[in-house]
Parts: sequence; structure tokens; C-alpha cells
Amino acid sequence: MAGMSPVRVLPADPAAIDEAAALLRAGGLVAFPTETVYGLGANALDATALARIYAAKGRPASNPLIAHVSDTAMARTVVATWPDVAQRLAEACWPGPLTLVLPRRPELPPALSAGLPAVGVRVPAHPVAQALIRAAGVPVAAPSANPYMGVSPTLAWHVEAGLRASPEPVLVLDGGPAAVGLESTVLDLTQAVPTVLRLGGLPLDRLRALLGEVATLSAEPGDQPLPSPGLARRHYAPRTPLLVVADAETEAARLRGEGKQVATIPLGADPVAYGAALYATLHELDARGYDVIVAAAPPADDAWAAVRDRLKRATG
Ligand code: TXA
Ligand code: MG
Repeated sequence: MAGMSPVRVLPADPAAIDEAAALLRAGGLVAFPTETVYGLGANALDATALARIYAAKGRPASNPLIAHVSDTAMARTVVATWPDVAQRLAEACWPGPLTLVLPRRPELPPALSAGLPAVGVRVPAHPVAQALIRAAGVPVAAPSANPYMGVSPTLAWHVEAGLRASPEPVLVLDGGPAAVGLESTVLDLTQAVPTVLRLGGLPLDRLRALLGEVATLSAEPGDQPLPSPGLARRHYAPRTPLLVVADAETEAARLRGEGKQVATIPLGADPVAYGAALYATLHELDARGYDVIVAAAPPADDAWAAVRDRLKRATG
């Protein structure tokens, strides 16, 4: 039927989770809540199912996926090595917003890690994600459930709106808002010094407290593997143009003087609360059709680093 959405949303009750798990085992796509953002999941062991993720998102094949697992034992079925540092981090931070990059098992479909020799793996903290992975009985590959370069979804309707044009059917489990609101911190353990590839929900100072030395990419870390063909600077971007300026109110007043419909995003005092609300705010403002969004620039300290990174990418 023309115009029929490929996306079906169900409340994440036990019957829906069972249906979703069966769909995953059959090679289908299931979007599900995690504590960070909603993920677009497929059976990580099924190359055909992985191809459906790339098609649904319009995502380039060069961008690796994260394997979501129920526990450390399942993580070890995905990676080829499990160093002490991984065990320590898993005990301290899982379930939670930390993705560990480790050498992959050679028998996995190459598309899981976009052909790279290392794979990202994490145990999500959301009870629906955990129940889904356990019911499916396989690692679940899942990027954020937004179209390529779009703002990650933190509510089920964000997924529904974003994937309306997907060539693949998607079942969405609605488990309410994603509490962290920013993607996981991605930590590469294949380097001599553990290296943050993407800032995210697990704060940098927590990693430093656990590991001592932690490297970050020069400038602010990105959402792409290193080395990466075509490292996308614009990412996480709303459709509405976004400006980040020191004095948002003055800039907003100037733009209103030009006759523009302007929304502002105030800073507040708490970077965690700001990060939790940021994507929902961008989705909401996009839906309301402003001419421009003006956000106040965050302070230059570590506590705001993940938020600064996402705002910078959102301005393209
Ligand atoms: O919080 C999250 O991480 C969410 C939820 C759904 O778990 N997922 C997510 O996935 O943000 P995605 O695909 O949108 O971003 C994953 C990023 C990749 O773009 C890449 O930068 C990094 O994680 N990554 C994944 N596997 C990697 C690998 N093998 N080597 C280097 N970087 C990798
Ligand atoms: Mg993403």
C-alpha cells in the first residue's frame, strides 16, 4: 500500500520482546531502547541481517557496528582476546555506556566490523535490551536507530519518524526514554594506551580513575574508526540549522530582528542532565519547524566534553 510505514511500534512487554527475539533470529530488524539511545538491531552472526541494517539507515559500509551482548561470557564469543584491562572495565562499567574495541573473532561476518580487524562490544544497561538479547540468544549488532548522519533517537517516535523511508521493515520496542541520552563511550583496547575513539555516556574522568592513562584523539574524538575513509564531521545533525555561540540570547535576538523563527537551547548547570535531554530537544525543535536553533556554548572542561563534541558535529 502506498505510504504505508515500514515501521511498527509495540510497547515493550514480554510478548512483544518474544516476538522481537524471534524476528531477530529470523534475520529481521528490531529497534530497541538502550540506556544511551535506541539501537537498530540485527543478529550479529547473520551477514544478510547485517546488510539490512546498512540499507535501513542508508549507512556507508565503512562504518562498523557495535555488538550488544548480555554479559561478559557472550562478549568473549565475539572477541578474539580478553585482556585483563577488558575484564576490569567490564566489572566496573557493564552493564553501561562503554563500548570496548578488541580484536574480532575471524569467523564473524566481516560486515559486523565493516571489515576492520577489531570489533566493538558492550553490555547495555536497559532491561528491555537485556531481555531481548537473552531471548534472542545471539549477540545483537546495533547502530543508533537514526538515518545516516541524523540525530540519534532517545524515544520510540524518533525512530518511527526517522526510518519512515526505510526499505526494510522494522519492529520498534517502545521502552520509554533513553536515560543517558548520548551514545556510549567507545574505547579502543587494541592500542598500547587505551584510546577513546568517541566521547560518550561514560565520563572521561571515570575512565581515567579506572585506567590511569587514557588517550583521546587529537581535536575532539569522532564517531568513526581510525583510520577511516571519509571521516564524517557532520553527524548527529538536526535538519534545522544549529548555531553554537557564547551568548545565545543576544544572537537569538539579532536573528529574530531579521524576522527569523528562533529556538534557543539554554546551558544549565548540569552536563549529565543536558546530555540526557539534548537529542530529544533537537528532535522536538526539528518537528516544530524553526528557521534556526541557537545553543549556548558549553564550558571547555572535561565534564562537558561529550556534549561539546555532539554540538560541534550537529552544527556540521
Ligand atoms: O550507545 C551506543 O553506542 C549506541 C547504542 C545503540 O548502543 N550505538 C551507537 O552505534 O551509537 P553507532 O553505530 O551509531 O556508533 C558506533 C560507533 C561507530 O561509528 C564507530 O565510531 C565506533 O562506534 N566503532 C564501532 N565498532 C568499531 C570498531 N571495530 N573500530 C573502531 N570504532 C568502532
Ligand atoms: Mg550513530
